[in-house]
Parts: sequence; structure tokens; C-alpha cells
Amino acid sequence: MADFDTLFAAASAARQKAHAPYSRYAVGAALLADDGQVYAGCNVENASFPEGWCAETTAIGQMVVGGGRRIVRAVVVAARIDTASVAGGRFCTPCGGCRQRLAEFSGADTEVFAADPDGASQRFTMAELLPAGFVLEE
Ligand code: THU
Repeated sequence: MADFDTLFAAASAARQKAHAPYSRYAVGAALLADDGQVYAGCNVENASFPEGWCAETTAIGQMVVGGGRRIVRAVVVAARIDTASVAGGRFCTPCGGCRQRLAEFSGADTEVFAADPDGASQRFTMAELLPAGFVLEE
């Protein structure tokens, strides 16, 4: 099963593909699914700003079409394109919408690492990122 380093490499490679000409904040995400595969994605922005979407969302789509259904571990790598700095000095934790999308395929113990391009990271569980999240059916 892919560890942090494998997922970090996949997320970093995906981040290189980011389409982020408007925010100039490039994000890559990699998911280890329960099928043992790693699925990755980048953010895809749009001239009509609200139509863009996050790296985690791309990766989830890749996972679903690839046949994976449960997320074991995720790594998100983000930084500004120009300076490679983490915006605001903080790691990029998934946005609210992506927390909900990740939760659809996660358990409380699913690990999410928010990392910078050098590999420094902060670890969260999904339970920490989305306490009392909405569930339609158990
Ligand atoms: N972004 C992500 O890809 N993932 C996150 O968790 C937060 C934000 C993207 C969306 C947008 O393209 C850019 O970062 C700036 O918000």
C-alpha cells in the first residue's frame, strides 16, 4: 500500500499539470484507494472563475472511473506557482466542498496529509477535517 512518499510523488507530478493561470496557486492531490491503486489530480481553473475546480475533485473523479471506491490515504501538495511558497504560510487543507466529496469515499480514520512542495506536511484524519459531516445513509 502506498505510503506518504509514493503519494507525495504522485501529487507533485499532478501538481505540475495544474491549470491555475488565475490564482497561480497550483495544487496536486493523490489518493490511495482500497484497490491498492493511486489516483491523482490537479486543480483546473476557468476564465469564468466559479467554474474551476480543485485538485481533490479531479483525483476523486479519476478514482471513481478507475474503479476505486474507498480512500485509505490522501496527500495534497500546494504552493504558489511563482514563489513555491504556501499561501499565508499555511498548508493547503482541503476546502469545505472537497471535504464533503472526500468524506463520500472515506472513513473517520482516512488520513489526509497537507504538504508543501518540499515534503513538509501536516497530518489530519477525515474525522478532524469534517466533524459531524452530513451523511444520508449509514
Ligand atoms: N484548490 C485546490 O485545488 N484544493 C484545495 O483544497 C483548495 C484550493 C485550488 C482551487 C483554485 O484553483 C486554487 O486552489 C486557489 O483557490
